[in-house]
Amino acid sequence: MKSVAASTILGIGHYVPSKVVTNDDLAKLMTTSDEWIVQRTGIKERRYIEHSGIGASDLAVPATKMALEHAGLTEKDIDAIIFATLSPDHNFPGSGCFLGHKLGIGGVPALDVRNQCSGFLYGLSIADAWVRAGMYENVLLVGAEVHSTGIELNDRGRDVAVLFGDGAGAAIIGAAKDSNQGLKAIELHADGVGAKDLWLEAPASAYDPRLTPEMLVEGKHFPAMNGKQVFRWATEKMPEVSKKVLEEAKLAASDVDLFVPHQANLRINQMVGAKLGIPEAKTVANIEKYGNTTAATIPLGLSEAWREGRCRRGSNVLMAAFGSGFTWGAAVLTL
Ligand code: ACO
Repeated sequence: MKSVAASTILGIGHYVPSKVVTNDDLAKLMTTSDEWIVQRTGIKERRYIEHSGIGASDLAVPATKMALEHAGLTEKDIDAIIFATLSPDHNFPGSGCFLGHKLGIGGVPALDVRNQCSGFLYGLSIADAWVRAGMYENVLLVGAEVHSTGIELNDRGRDVAVLFGDGAGAAIIGAAKDSNQGLKAIELHADGVGAKDLWLEAPASAYDPRLTPEMLVEGKHFPAMNGKQVFRWATEKMPEVSKKVLEEAKLAASDVDLFVPHQANLRINQMVGAKLGIPEAKTVANIEKYGNTTAATIPLGLSEAWREGRCRRGSNVLMAAFGSGFTWGAAVLTL
């Protein structure tokens, strides 16, 4: 094994399904309105898979191909897969196994990361360690979600249902080419005190049987959220951890060329940006089009921003996330 000095993002890609679901579409299924959703969250529409039978690993395939092309690599160059998702194709095995098979790279190791909105950052820390240790040269890091089949599209589920959408992002993590490039700092956290403030209760190995008809009637197989509590924690923890990684990287907020926050709520990100002193012009905001795609939001946002010319090789990119667990983290990387 030959260790390397630093890892960076060699290429990035994304994919969203073609079916657009607007707030007005949801208002036909539940008591809500475009005005309520836009005011509270900034979301105008989201994407849903076109039909049953499409899993998170299917959305990851085109995102991966786009990332490989961006990096000038092919499937055969992938040495390991890290797949971040809270909506795996099936409970087990992990979606990384399905993805490797679909990419035609059987034998390549695949690790699923179950850290919800912070999944991409947790995965990035693992990919960085593997690359720097010389264990794997090119690590495919994916964040992909199919939420639309797991939300309750009626009045009971409306608080959660309006927030989420389907999508995927993928990054190829490999050795930095010059000494200024690379991951400069990353910090991760979790606190189970909030585990039940955003969770999906069943099916559960903690219950025997794991799922009953009564649980289905009660809707325990749909996500439940204490939105206010999540909001409070997110607006405190995202700035706190972002400041820490900037400090560790010896960078000021003004050195950040692009801020890619997790997309849970536009209001959360406006508050986080204001606390950090990073202007909206430097902040990725695509929640309006896609809603919250959980583990996919950061690679999806970075991929779009890179293609729009909002960042380039040498740019300092700050990423931050908060979500279910609670889990949160931030990273700063020079592309
Ligand atoms: N449409 C209309 N009304 C609604 C809807 C809806 N979709 N959902 C809830 N309401 C109602 C509520 O029932 C409540 O009615 P009441 O006052 O009669 O009881 C009223 O609207 C206000 O509800 P609140 O929960 O107080 O609304 P709030 O201003 O807190 O906004 C929101 C809710 C947008 C969910 C906010 O709390 C939030 O964004 N939280 C964080 C979301 C988040 O970050 N999620 C986690 C990340 S995802 C992950 O990790 C997987």
